[in-house]
Amino acid sequence: MAAHRFATTLTTAVSLIAPFLGLATACSASEGAAAAAAPTLDAASGGVKALPAGDTVGAPGVGDSDFPQDGNGGYDVDHYGLKLSYDPASKRLEGSAAIRARAVQDLTAFDLDLHGLTVSRVTVNGAVAQFGRREDELTVTAPGRIKSGARFDVTVDYAGVPDPVRNYAGLGTYGFIATTDGSFVTCEPNGAKTWFPSNDHPSDKATYDFKITVPEGLTAIANGEMDAQPKTSDGRTTFAWREKHPMATYLATMTTGKFEVRTGTSDLGIPVYAAVDPAFHGSLDNLYTASAKITDYWTTMFGPYPFSSTGGVVDNYSAGYALENQTKPIYGGFTPDTGIIAHELAHQWFGDSVSITRWKDLWLNEGFATYAEWLWSEHRGGQTADALFRSYYANNLDPIWNVPPGRAQRTDLFNGSVYTRGAMTLHAVRREIGDATFFALLKKWTAAHRYGNATTEEFVALAEHMSGKKLDGLFDAWLYQPRRPAPVT
Ligand code: TRP
Ligand code: ZN
Repeated sequence: MAAHRFATTLTTAVSLIAPFLGLATACSASEGAAAAAAPTLDAASGGVKALPAGDTVGAPGVGDSDFPQDGNGGYDVDHYGLKLSYDPASKRLEGSAAIRARAVQDLTAFDLDLHGLTVSRVTVNGAVAQFGRREDELTVTAPGRIKSGARFDVTVDYAGVPDPVRNYAGLGTYGFIATTDGSFVTCEPNGAKTWFPSNDHPSDKATYDFKITVPEGLTAIANGEMDAQPKTSDGRTTFAWREKHPMATYLATMTTGKFEVRTGTSDLGIPVYAAVDPAFHGSLDNLYTASAKITDYWTTMFGPYPFSSTGGVVDNYSAGYALENQTKPIYGGFTPDTGIIAHELAHQWFGDSVSITRWKDLWLNEGFATYAEWLWSEHRGGQTADALFRSYYANNLDPIWNVPPGRAQRTDLFNGSVYTRGAMTLHAVRREIGDATFFALLKKWTAAHRYGNATTEEFVALAEHMSGKKLDGLFDAWLYQPRRPAPVT
C-alpha cells in the first residue's frame, strides 16, 4: 500500500489511482461459488430482497456474490445517529448508534454488521433486546415481531479498541485505523463495521448525524456539514456533523487528529471545507483551491453537485491511497495533485450520489472516476482523453486485457482493469455514440440515479436509449471478455 501504486506505464501527468492491490489474473471461474444461500442482488436490478414468506429471521448477508456476509436482509436503514468518543492515547472508542430502519419482511430477529468491539446494550423500539455475536454479525432478537413495512429504532451501545480489517481478500488495511494523533477512517469496501454497527453494503444508503468527542485541541471531521459550533468542556471537544443526503456506509468517516482547516465557498457558491494535518501545512491552500475549482468544473460536465458541501482532508497516515468519502475525500499521507483530486471529486457523482448495487459493478465508480481524470487532463491542456485511450490500447501486453472490468472480483476488486479498462469502455462508448450524446448520457445518468443505486445493465440500457443504437456487443467486448476488444475508430 505504498505510493508505487501511483506509478503508471504512460509518461503522463495524469495519476493512475488504481491501487493494484493484487496482480492481474485471468478471468476467474470462482464467481458464484461463494454465492449467498437465499437472497441475491445479482439477478435483481437492486434493493434488498425479502426472504421467502414465513421466515422472520433477516438474512446475515444482503446477497452480494463477492461479499456474501456483507449487509443484511430484512430491513433497510433510513438514518444512523452516531455518538462517538475517541481517545487517541488509549485508542479506545466509545459509541452509541441510533439506527432508524424499515422492515421489508416480518422480523423476529435481524443482523447488523460489527467487527470487534464489545456491545453492552441493544434496544429495539425502546425495549432492551437480546443479542449475540458471531464473526462480524451482531444478531438482535426483536422483543416482539416487527411487521413488514414497519419503521423501527435500534440502539447499540458499544466500546473497545477498533480493529481495522487487515488483508481480507488481499484488500490491504482499511476501516478505522488509529494514527499517532487520532484516526484515519477509510472503509471501502466493508470497513464501516469496524467503528459502527451497520448494514454494511452500498445497496442500503442512509442519512447520518455524528457527534464526535475528542480531547481538546483535536478536530473531528465527518461527512456533510457542521450542525453546531464545536463545544468544549472538561478538556474534551464535541463536533456535530450531519450528512443529509443518502450515503453508503463505506463513505462514512470520523477522521480525527490535529488539523488545520480552511473553509469558504467555491466560485459557484458551493461551501468548501479543507483540512490538512500540520505535517502538510503547505498543502492546505492548494487542497482548498483545487477542490473548489474542480468541483465547480465537474458541475459543468456531470450536472449539479449532489451534496451540500465539498472539500478534502489530508492526513499524515501513509496509506498511499485516497478515498472518495462523501463531501470530503481523504488523501492518506501525500499532497494530492489535481489529477487525484479530480478523480475523488468525480466520485461524488459516480459512486457517492449514484452508488453501485453490488461490488462486481465497481467499474461504474472507478472507470468513471478514471475517465474523469482523463477529461481533467484534457481540460488543463495535458493529454487528451483520446490520446490516453490510444496509448493504453496500444499496449497489447497490458494485463488489463485478461481481466474483464465489468465483473470485479472479491479477491481482486480494485484491479487496474476496473479503473483503466473501465475508463476505456466509456471512451469506446463515446466514440460510438458521439460527443454530444455521450456527455448528455453522463448528465442523464447522474440525474436519473441521483442519491440512489444503479447497475451496469441500467447504464447499458440508458446508453442504448439515448443513442438509439444497439450497444450490447460493444459493452460485452469491453466489460466482459478476457481479451483486448477490436480497435476503436
Ligand atoms: N476507491 C479508492 C479510489 O479509487 C481506492 C480504494 C480502494 C480505497 N480501496 C480502498 C481507499 C480502501 C481507501 C480504503 O479513489
Ligand atoms: Zn476511485
